[in-house]
Amino acid sequence: MVDVLIGLQWGDEGKGKIVDFMAAKYDIIARFQGGPNAGHTLYVDGKKVVLHTIPSGIFQAHCDNLIGNGVVIDPVVLQKEITTVTAMLPNMKDRLFVSHRAHLILPTHRALDAASEAAKGKEKIGSTLKGIGPAYMDKTGRNGLRVGDVLRGDFDERYATIKAKHQQMLQQYDHQVDWQSWEEDFLNAIAHLRTLNIVNAEYWLDNALSKGKRVLAEGAQGSMLDVDFGTYPFVTSSNTIAAGVCSGLGIAPSKVGDVYGITKAYCTRVGGGPFPTELEDEMGEALRKAGAEFGATTGRPRRCGWIDLVALRYAVMLSGVNKLIMTKTDVLDGFNPINAATAYQVDGVTTEQMPYDLCGTDIQPVWQSFPGWDKPISTCTQKSDLPAVFNEYCRFIEQYLGAKFAYISNGTGREQLLEM
Ligand code: GDP
Ligand code: IMO
Ligand code: MG
Repeated sequence: MVDVLIGLQWGDEGKGKIVDFMAAKYDIIARFQGGPNAGHTLYVDGKKVVLHTIPSGIFQAHCDNLIGNGVVIDPVVLQKEITTVTAMLPNMKDRLFVSHRAHLILPTHRALDAASEAAKGKEKIGSTLKGIGPAYMDKTGRNGLRVGDVLRGDFDERYATIKAKHQQMLQQYDHQVDWQSWEEDFLNAIAHLRTLNIVNAEYWLDNALSKGKRVLAEGAQGSMLDVDFGTYPFVTSSNTIAAGVCSGLGIAPSKVGDVYGITKAYCTRVGGGPFPTELEDEMGEALRKAGAEFGATTGRPRRCGWIDLVALRYAVMLSGVNKLIMTKTDVLDGFNPINAATAYQVDGVTTEQMPYDLCGTDIQPVWQSFPGWDKPISTCTQKSDLPAVFNEYCRFIEQYLGAKFAYISNGTGREQLLEM
């Protein structure tokens, strides 16, 4: 079976840390969507590592790691990441596998991302500018270059054709980007890509599953950034919910097992777009400070607010989440009270459902308050240490969401995790 782990909010829920821990129990960790817009942070022997493309199981020495067909790969970013990780784990390349079918991000995709965002002005998405949107547009527009293409004799001509197309598109924008200066690194990275284990990943996975191997699919971004179900148009360009696993890895729905959903004990968002429970005051600032909420990919300050149970229940429903994980519980040490949104007032009408469009709508959260923890969670090392008021907060969330907590995370380290 393939278990799934996804973010339930707007990304940065702590997926990297949790996958790094959970990978101890799996044989294969597979990324199924997104690309270098992701920044998954883990601490290895106290050293901080941020992974963008390599799955977060790489630091468990027995684990194979697959970059699936649904991922868009920037070969330059991947090469840099491999260099960083190889310095820590010399033979890591032997355990890294890349799908033939994954699409490539080209220098001109990054230029188009930047030009398109600049043209949007105040309405910009707040993209990470990694070329994600343009690369997925070429995939669905049937123009894209795939990893397998780098092994073909006509790769150079194919690259020249798509580059010429992009150059024409770039002429329509005022915003000019010096993408030509990125091309040398790109072509070197393509040569490096040819040295990796490029596989027919759907057969590779099927074979592993038939031998009883345990697979965990690692999501990127979060459910509210899903291109279909997120806060459109302020979303990313892939399906971040569990459904993305089937198309992003070539896995049949009948092979999907447990679905783990991660939420922070509060909520953050980076980039533009609606965020009903955002705190644009000292409380939001205090959360940002306590949680060190700055983007792992772009360094941008993350917008902070209280947990949003309306959005969480929607995300749990969409993916059939049966196991919950809450991270950053230690960050709320000392906060009192702790609030949670249990409904929205949309243009004056109370609802527990996500509206179709959150942009340009007056949305006021309906709050429920909980007392702050009566002792710090950061010092807890087992379930029985957890403060009673925290347990009550968890029970309320479990009941509201209809799923149980599997783990509670109370620090950045791999072992700062309590099994529930
Ligand atoms: P991801 O994109 O979901 O992998 O999350 P990021 O790595 O972008 O952001 C999560 C941040 O929170 C990272 O800096 C983690 O080191 C940190 N983190 C994860 N879990 C915890 C936790 O339980 N407590 C604290 N204080 N930090 C955490
Ligand atoms: P991880 O995997 C948080 C956000 C961007 C922007 C929007 C579109 O680390 O949780 P894109 O670059 O995809 O065109 O940006 O999505 N975004 C993320 N926010 N965590 C991420 O990944 C994100 N990946 C994209 O900030 O608002
Ligand atoms: Mg992140």
